[in-house]
Amino acid sequence: MNNSLSYESFKKSPYRSIKLSSYFDAYDALFSKYRDKPITFLEVGVLGGGSLFMWRDYFGEKARIIGVDLNPNAKKWERFGFEIYVGDQSDESFWKGLLSKVGELDVVLDDGGHTYAQQVITVESLISSIRDGGVLVVEDTHTSYMPGYGIKSHSFVEYAKLLIDKINYRFVEFKDFDCEKRVWSIRFFESMVAFEINRNAQSISSIVDNNGEDDKAIDYLYHDENAVVFLKNINEKFRKYYSGSKIAGYLKKIIANVILYPRFMKEKFKIKKYF
Ligand SMILES: C[S@@+](CC[C@H](N)C(=O)[O-])C[C@H]1O[C@@H](n2cnc3c(N)ncnc32)[C@H](O)[C@@H]1O
Repeated sequence: MNNSLSYESFKKSPYRSIKLSSYFDAYDALFSKYRDKPITFLEVGVLGGGSLFMWRDYFGEKARIIGVDLNPNAKKWERFGFEIYVGDQSDESFWKGLLSKVGELDVVLDDGGHTYAQQVITVESLISSIRDGGVLVVEDTHTSYMPGYGIKSHSFVEYAKLLIDKINYRFVEFKDFDCEKRVWSIRFFESMVAFEINRNAQSISSIVDNNGEDDKAIDYLYHDENAVVFLKNINEKFRKYYSGSKIAGYLKKIIANVILYPRFMKEKFKIKKYF
């Protein structure tokens, strides 16, 4: 924290702001590439104005700094050159109206009310309006483990975990699953989740071959196991039925799972202590 540029800006702010000490290293890691650039930054949660001045100092004069708060008093910070919008972050129509006025965003930081509905609706409402290369960050996600912010089964962290699955579903062989195409990657920090946008890289993946010389190396993944030899034989014998048939493909995987079950159970006990 001590060598962090965002912490320097935080200390310089003339108005009060309270952040977690762990945030400053994460801010530097996530935001440094936007410094001194003509970006549009939006923070949900203005309160006493402290973070608006921090971000002005951190991003520089070229940045457009937008604050959002439910408290209409936040409007007073407009006279310092900030754009302020008053509204409820858990209201999808509020976000629609705001986006029609401000256009696309580069960086969003949610430091608003921290209920699960507020956090999830903010991400869902803004994620498609983040410019390529941009990032949306939700902080104080520790509320997912605390009472008073919503129903735990639908906490923000549960939502983020679901998106992890949906990002992995982009793998070409899972094309029947509902995959996530709006977010490239998700980074988890203490009490903070960052959604990164990289439009070229967030479509369904394909398997690529560099067509280099094939050394015919043996893949030792299951080498030397009778079960695997058996599986290999079935595979070769019935290949003509598998190809092109989805059901046969699934059947093949189920047979593999049954045959390898004893081995997988042994492996499960080996790694159980890490879960
Ligand atoms: C933690 S404070 C923001 C602190 C500020 N970012 C700072 O560092 O100085 C949270 C703010 O979110 C606002 N807020 C609470 N619920 C909100 C909602 N539903 N929509 C928009 N803002 C909300 C509160 O009025 C409060 O000003």
